[in-house]
Amino acid sequence: MHKLRNGFPDDFLWGGAISASQADGGWNEGGKGKSTQDCRWLDGTWTHEQIEEKHHNNPFSHDELMAALDDDGTEFYPFRRGCDFYHHWKEDLDLFAEMGLKLFRTSICWSRIFPNGDDETPNAEGIAWYRELFTACHERGIKTFVTMLHYDIPVNLVTKYGGWKSRKTIDFFVRYVETIVDELGDLVDFWLPFNEFNAGRFAPWDGVCLVADEEGEKLDQSIFQCLHHEFVANAHAVRIVHEKFPGVPVGGMIARFCTYPATCKPEDSLQALHDDQYANWFYTDVMARGAYPAYMCRYFDQVDVEIEMEPGDEELLAEHTVDFLAFSYYFSQVATADQGWAKTSGNLVMANKNPYLESTEWGWQIDPIGLRVTLNQMYDRYGLPLYIAENGLGTSDVLEEDDSVHDPYRIDYLKRHIETMRDAVIDGVDVRGYMIWGFLDIVACGPLSMSKRYGLIYVDLDNEGKGTGRRYRKDSFYWYKNCIAANGEALDDTLKQ
Ligand code: BG6
Repeated sequence: MHKLRNGFPDDFLWGGAISASQADGGWNEGGKGKSTQDCRWLDGTWTHEQIEEKHHNNPFSHDELMAALDDDGTEFYPFRRGCDFYHHWKEDLDLFAEMGLKLFRTSICWSRIFPNGDDETPNAEGIAWYRELFTACHERGIKTFVTMLHYDIPVNLVTKYGGWKSRKTIDFFVRYVETIVDELGDLVDFWLPFNEFNAGRFAPWDGVCLVADEEGEKLDQSIFQCLHHEFVANAHAVRIVHEKFPGVPVGGMIARFCTYPATCKPEDSLQALHDDQYANWFYTDVMARGAYPAYMCRYFDQVDVEIEMEPGDEELLAEHTVDFLAFSYYFSQVATADQGWAKTSGNLVMANKNPYLESTEWGWQIDPIGLRVTLNQMYDRYGLPLYIAENGLGTSDVLEEDDSVHDPYRIDYLKRHIETMRDAVIDGVDVRGYMIWGFLDIVACGPLSMSKRYGLIYVDLDNEGKGTGRRYRKDSFYWYKNCIAANGEALDDTLKQ
């Protein structure tokens, strides 16, 4: 018999998250090779509107890739610099510790370990850097939640082998995973093989490193074949961690698109069911239940996709399922059979607009209740422990002359989401950790800009990479510190510094 809970468990993990490509920089230092994310270019002088119009909604193209491969650092590629965590990590970890952070999520950059992806031996300097970083986390009482692949694969694997289209990439990934688990496994508390598994469907360059205009009409077929290879690679990663470090949890993650029917018309409900299956459940079903769900047969038939599997793939997926599920949560959307429904931006996708919700500066609809709905839905379906791997508000901030940053809008956003997460705990959901995304300001993934800031720590760099790079505590820094100390209770009172 379950007992009614009255709030967060004592061991709840209050966390923060970043990714290597968006934060680290040092793209050509320490033996690192060029990654796929090092190839995404931005004109730093573009306005917000220009970024949305010219960049954010355009898939990565063949011409962009060719230009990036030739470029030796003359042009401005924001991910090559990030927020320079590579050089600032000690002071950043000190700030995290000052806040009382309990869990830090970052990713390992594959091309820092295997610069070309197909190298026979790993880059010792890269391994040493991560050992130092994770050791320093533990010394500060912070657990590590480590993503093996957050969108950035060695670009050589794409140009030479076709990236995830080739099964060879599975082999290279397995070598990479065996190496990082052997070399760093004693310092990792949670492993997450892939960031946002469903991203490949919506942002092919990020998720499965496909150049959309090179695929033409075969794009859907190529995406799902790549995703199949990633599912196989994911199962291998689960197997490897379980074999080498039994008891260390390995998870699966998606970008969760919470979807409501736009009206009570049965057609809208059916649309919501399908949107949820195709955009969300497919991915977690494979990773947590260990098999392709039956509903995808009809979908694959409709979009003319045929997955090529090799003998043994299905057994591998069935045998090596994940121990927990994680997801990013930023917005909700509505599902409708009405083709003319108004649209707005959302994470990775254009979303159908919900007239009852307000939006961020970037058009993402703010819906704290959707987080509670999502947590309940995911726990009902899988009964696995849940971690919110990303949540937060991306918006512009102002650094005042006295070095303060007043961000009551971010505090309000976080507070409302944490409150509904607490409600989900009382609903009986086994949610064990919450990681605020872009914990210190990093380069935003979609727009590639610094001006879309998520951090509780302000980093003085602009969209052109100009600035001192200095770190400043925002008001939300003090707020989260108090929230952590109070274990998420009495949030109204935690504003005081
Ligand atoms: C998630 C990604 O999709 O959303 C992150 O895992 C990303 O890498 C985050 O930064 C927020 O999106 P954006 O485009 O605002 O940075």
